Amino acid sequence: MFDTDLHCLVVVGAQWGDEGKGKLVDVISERADLVVRYQGGANAGHTVVIGDSQFILRLIPSGILHPTTTCVLGNGVVIDPDAFFGELDGLAERGVPVTGRVLVSDRAHLVLPYHKLLDAAAERSQNIGTTRRGIGPAYEDKYGRRGLRVGFLSDLPRMERRLADRVRLANEQLALLGAPERASVDEHVTLIRRIAPRLLPMVVDTGAHLHHAIRAGQRVLLEGAQGSLLDVDHGTYPFVTSSNTTAGGAAVGAGIGPTAIDGVLGVVKAYTTRVGNGPLPTLAPAPVEEELRRLGHEFGAVTGRPRRCGWFDALVVRYAARVNGLTALAVTKLDVLDSFETIPVGAAYDLDGARLEEMPSDLSALERVTPVLETLEGWRTSTSTARSLADLPRPARSYLERLEVLADTPIRYVSVGTRRDQIIEVA
Ligand code: IMP
Repeated sequence: MFDTDLHCLVVVGAQWGDEGKGKLVDVISERADLVVRYQGGANAGHTVVIGDSQFILRLIPSGILHPTTTCVLGNGVVIDPDAFFGELDGLAERGVPVTGRVLVSDRAHLVLPYHKLLDAAAERSQNIGTTRRGIGPAYEDKYGRRGLRVGFLSDLPRMERRLADRVRLANEQLALLGAPERASVDEHVTLIRRIAPRLLPMVVDTGAHLHHAIRAGQRVLLEGAQGSLLDVDHGTYPFVTSSNTTAGGAAVGAGIGPTAIDGVLGVVKAYTTRVGNGPLPTLAPAPVEEELRRLGHEFGAVTGRPRRCGWFDALVVRYAARVNGLTALAVTKLDVLDSFETIPVGAAYDLDGARLEEMPSDLSALERVTPVLETLEGWRTSTSTARSLADLPRPARSYLERLEVLADTPIRYVSVGTRRDQIIEVA
């Protein structure tokens, strides 16, 4: 996608996450100098398949699998240090060079064991269906102005005093939530002393680094995690994650100005899935849902939970196109639909006798809508070897054309399998 006019690209999920961003970022980052995560943490699970090997990346940008890219964890990310180093070591053991290739923002916040205890305790009453990776409580600390930034590690005695204070607060909160667990100051101090010497050499002012890289004409890919409908402002609140997953969050979370961004690619599955709780209007009837889950291997990459599966929902994607300012779409997993005789697509919603063309912000309305389904013709032949649009059967091309019209965004990529080469780039 990179060309003379496009140096800085954001890739976002345009549904509820798990759209296949990992594969797209892997493919596109072949031509990128820097790949940047700007929000979220180890709640993400980006799956990339190379040959017979499968990599699941949680915190480290998918660009790590191309040896010449530099990977950046921006200020908007929340970093669980053990998850981070576990992932780095796992990659190194599998022969991926990692040394000197990962930069971490001094402004990023840490996710610590007490955040995970709070996440689990809050889940007992809130029932959001979180990944229990401590994401919500870490962002609560950040916005409550009591968070622990990576940069604080350079003054350990001060960091330890802050830490003791936060652990005491967390224990008070755990007691209020009726949770039996308590966090230990000693455990946290030991953790911080262990990780500081390893993390600090990677720490830089990543915003400044990116600014200079963009000025120098380097190609930068900003890799979104989760999906637009999980954005804390624009998603199906409160069944959302605690960060801005949409393209606006990319500028804030990477520390660059919005004018530095040249394009936004929205990744969508050819159907829809959702893991965690909250409405899914185009949910398929049970036997069909089961079939989609089986064919698409729809189980959470982080938690292993079965994903709910349904048909493509045009309102979701049109909404995502609007709030992200999408300039192009990448449609993934088209091959999962290869065996269906007909394929329904959600084109509008009915609510209390009225037709809705736009996503309602009121969750109770979204829970009551009935999708208006259009039935499109299936192709019942394998698409997995197609490498150009002309290789696709006519009904598959018609299906994509219809998605393009419904989403009001041009399609730039179509993915037809998990492997790197199973992709169509539309000229
Ligand atoms: P949290 O981000 O762990 O707080 O979870 C909040 C919601 O976001 C839950 O519904 C999770 O299942 C969902 N979620 C978080 N990360 C991902 C992801 O990478 N893919 C899909 N859903 C996610």
